[in-house]
Amino acid sequence: MNFPPDESGYEAWLRYPKLSDAALRHLCHVQACSGTEPALEELSRALRGWGLGELQHCEDDAGLELSLDPLLPEEGFRISHGAGERLHLEGGSPNGLLYGMFQLLRCVNCGLSLEGESAPAVPLRMLNHWDNLVIDPVHGSIERVKGGDTIFDWADLSRPNPRYEEYARLLASVGLNAICLNNVNAEPEILSSDMIRGLSALATIFRRWGLRIFVSVNFASPVFLDGLPTADPLDPRVRAWWRDKAAEIYAAIPDFGGFVVKADSEGKPGPGTYGRNHVEGSACLARALAPHGGTLFWRAFVYGRDLSDKLPDAKARADRANHATHEFMGLDGQFDDNVILQIKCSAIDFQIWEPVHALFGKLQHTRMCVEFALTKEYSGYDVHMNWEGPYFHHILNSPLLASRVEAVTAVANFSNARNGFGHLLHGGSLYTHGRLTWQPEADPRAVLDEYTRQMFGREAGAAVSAMMEKSYDTVAAYTMPMGLTYISEFLHHFEPDPWDNHQGAGISPDGIGTDRTVASGSGYIGLYPPKLAARFENPVTCPRRFLLYFHHLRWIHRLSTGETLIQALYNSYCDGVDTVRDTRSQWRALHGKIDLERWAHVYEKLALQERHAERWRDLVCRFLEETSGIPDEQRRFVSPSPHNRLRSGFWKAVEDYHSRVEREKAALRGAKT
Ligand code: GCU
Repeated sequence: MNFPPDESGYEAWLRYPKLSDAALRHLCHVQACSGTEPALEELSRALRGWGLGELQHCEDDAGLELSLDPLLPEEGFRISHGAGERLHLEGGSPNGLLYGMFQLLRCVNCGLSLEGESAPAVPLRMLNHWDNLVIDPVHGSIERVKGGDTIFDWADLSRPNPRYEEYARLLASVGLNAICLNNVNAEPEILSSDMIRGLSALATIFRRWGLRIFVSVNFASPVFLDGLPTADPLDPRVRAWWRDKAAEIYAAIPDFGGFVVKADSEGKPGPGTYGRNHVEGSACLARALAPHGGTLFWRAFVYGRDLSDKLPDAKARADRANHATHEFMGLDGQFDDNVILQIKCSAIDFQIWEPVHALFGKLQHTRMCVEFALTKEYSGYDVHMNWEGPYFHHILNSPLLASRVEAVTAVANFSNARNGFGHLLHGGSLYTHGRLTWQPEADPRAVLDEYTRQMFGREAGAAVSAMMEKSYDTVAAYTMPMGLTYISEFLHHFEPDPWDNHQGAGISPDGIGTDRTVASGSGYIGLYPPKLAARFENPVTCPRRFLLYFHHLRWIHRLSTGETLIQALYNSYCDGVDTVRDTRSQWRALHGKIDLERWAHVYEKLALQERHAERWRDLVCRFLEETSGIPDEQRRFVSPSPHNRLRSGFWKAVEDYHSRVEREKAALRGAKT
């Protein structure tokens, strides 16, 4: 069999394979204004890859002319035909030209029309790395990424590494313009003077490709780094510390983006530690950044504080979904101008198919950022094929956001894995994040087709799109269907563990799901605008994918399809696994149509996914049978066997952790007796 030459996936979608005809040879003759070097470098790379020759600069007779048009939006561009074959690429700025160049190259790669005009809908298009400066014993070098380690050499960020620039190109190619480099669970050392020197080296690389860098900071940095007795945001010494630190950073990095802060969240210090609120806490840091034009992203991922002052009802307080909205809605309009509230797309925590976070609808005078995750923390990490396009599109086009967000970010899934993502096809998540953030109303399937065509060519690309398109719903079907949440093991969120972790899914002998209704539940639904709330409140009108997120229903509750709820769940788990099996055979059929290396990589991932999907199905369904006392009509589930575990360092780590916890528990029991 004649296979295409092997590829590792290192180039991701920026591949530029040989073109079969030379019709575009005129693109080699370029007339360009100044400030367009990265765009021209990319064009040269493409021309060489396509086999069209070397780029030549010329004054007259150019086939491609690059120029600036100050009337275009700053990051926008226009591609149009001039006389003869001549193509004009105009940008509102050099960065606009860069995005236009990537659009031009993409259209050639995908065989799409070269003409068009575009500008981003969202001003700040960002990624949040959760990379650790020091390897964490539980999470490794990147929190919630298992496919590889951090690409950043934190011991010496100025040490050259070609991957930095290659990564910056990938991000620019999908229109991203900002990157936060380190974990929101931030080590204070990110602000040390040594680190700032290193950050400045990275900023130089990313700047060329239109990206500003941000860092996550620890709210108590003045205490940890310089031994101040407090990090109270109202203390003048603390304010002066942040002012001086910001000045030091901007002296080294004049276009530094600003800070991302996780405060008063999951044990992290924050203004609450000193009896202050989020407005007071954020103002202290924001005012240090403001004179330099910096932005403060203040995360709204907070839960767990005693909210009895705001929520007298204990049932409402017990529901984590309520917390952030009640914490922040009363502060609307009070934040400083350079503060953007960074709100997770949904209220619990990146569960698959969680509905849009109600907080978005409650803020009218606060700048907002939506935070997604590309990391698939609860949906199979780098093992399961899982393309989030439908979900991103759903959230970005929610009426609660309706072009009111100024920034969109996503937890990054890029690592030093050869193909960058662990699972080759998870580059599709980053690709889609960038493209939909640029144009949220774009058809996600069209975006997916762009990605797969660039990865695999037209014919194989179409087949891969068909598989990826349904992958998100498929993973939901065999992990947490119909809006279930949290039935995975509590540390890594990868393995199904309904026995130990089922409260979040509201599983009890009488039924399943979490009652968030106004009528009888936690009242979270009441935080949505009335029309949407009415739709969610009624189980008949509530979209099926959110049913158990909002309702606790009896096992034998009849769905509109005529099935009982319990049987529909069993069917979902089984259908999900069947779809993975079908996907694997469809992938097998691509043998010979894709280079062997990339083909085999995905095939192996699918084999693992299938086994793991079966494990999810068997464990969860057995648990549901046991709890409900109602067996599957077709008796499809086998008892979970202790030997039915996949072996890998990752699973081993989970097991080691559990056995350590068990040993500790046993020691405690021993101590008691
Ligand atoms: C989740 C996740 C953590 C992360 C946190 C956050 O809880 O499991 O790893 O730190 O979200 O977003 O801050």
